[in-house]
Amino acid sequence: MDLQSIKDGFARAFGDTGEGLRFFYAPGRVNLIGEHLDYNGGYVFPCALNLGIYSAARKRGDSLIRLASGNMEPKVTVDSAHIFYDTKDGWANYPKAVIHELLRMGYTPGGFDLYVWGDMPNNAGLSSSAAIELLTCAVSDRLFDLGVGSIERAKLCQRAENGFVGVNCGIMDQFASGMGKKDNAILLDCSTLEYQYVPLKLGDYRLIISNTNKKRGLTDSKYNERREECERALHDLQKVCDIKNLCDLSADDFEKYKNAIGDSVACNRAAHAVYENARTKAAVKALNTGNLREFGKLMNLSHVSLRDLYGVSCTELDVLAEAAWNVEGVLGSRMTGAGFGGCTVSVVHKDAADSFIKNVGETYKTRTGLTADFYIAETGDGAGEIIK
Ligand code: GLA
Repeated sequence: MDLQSIKDGFARAFGDTGEGLRFFYAPGRVNLIGEHLDYNGGYVFPCALNLGIYSAARKRGDSLIRLASGNMEPKVTVDSAHIFYDTKDGWANYPKAVIHELLRMGYTPGGFDLYVWGDMPNNAGLSSSAAIELLTCAVSDRLFDLGVGSIERAKLCQRAENGFVGVNCGIMDQFASGMGKKDNAILLDCSTLEYQYVPLKLGDYRLIISNTNKKRGLTDSKYNERREECERALHDLQKVCDIKNLCDLSADDFEKYKNAIGDSVACNRAAHAVYENARTKAAVKALNTGNLREFGKLMNLSHVSLRDLYGVSCTELDVLAEAAWNVEGVLGSRMTGAGFGGCTVSVVHKDAADSFIKNVGETYKTRTGLTADFYIAETGDGAGEIIK
């Protein structure tokens, strides 16, 4: 990334010389498997991308926070003493949320000017919102030496999104954006936040992200609905077994106790959680032993489960995944993230990348009338300062 253009953007936005700036980056993420498990106490397996949000920042001598973006309107100025959610502030509510949460936790960030510019698609299921949150947290932390620990950053940003923005997300996106490591995926146990880096040894294979470019509408309300359905299933199961989360159950125990779940919808949601958790552990084992074919198969099964049991896919995602399954050289393909639109992720042989993009792109256009975008994904590091 050319930091000069970020510096120029800052100078344009705030009408000054752009001297004395510090630069930061926070990545988007793609989840390889383990979907809708973070809030069910299961394993997730995301990696941070080299697509994300760059920024230039500088301390001010007062308590004002000025926020500007090279991709999005509006430009917003707030006083840190009076931060509240305002729909008309759009994207700026995310950085405001983080500052609000920092202050609530007793940290004392002062005023600063922040200019951001992203090279990732927004609202495409690659967690641009987590990226902007982690970015703001890293900026505040570094400019004012707040000493927020790295895992605390992720937890704090999740709380900011839950409480201030009002989206009841789990911890996965913030954790991946904050803790990502180039060439690795993160196996995160969401019930304990224990994690390990797993080298993403894909050999001749590449990760291709395909964006449906579908306008997403009801994602948040449908997301919250899935969470409630899982809570219902958990509540029923807790009458017959001693568990804290759905993912505490093995597949065998789930089969034994599932009749306790009062309605079939909640039962399907729980079945997805339990079996997806088992798939995630198996997928990591497959990756560690170099069995990429098995890894791909598990990705496909994950998609089918999200489609049939969890009800978070949509025609566009299904068309992309199914078209990918038909391309030679593809080991696996699935929707990634919350669903209802957004992206798929596929494991594709490097020599098949061009035919993948051509064939999947054409099928998608014919079947949906929409044009998909494709990214050959590279992993990247988590949020932090760019030291020149
Ligand atoms: C969204 C949420 C995450 C996670 C995924 C689904 O990205 O922000 O917490 O629940 O959906 O796996």
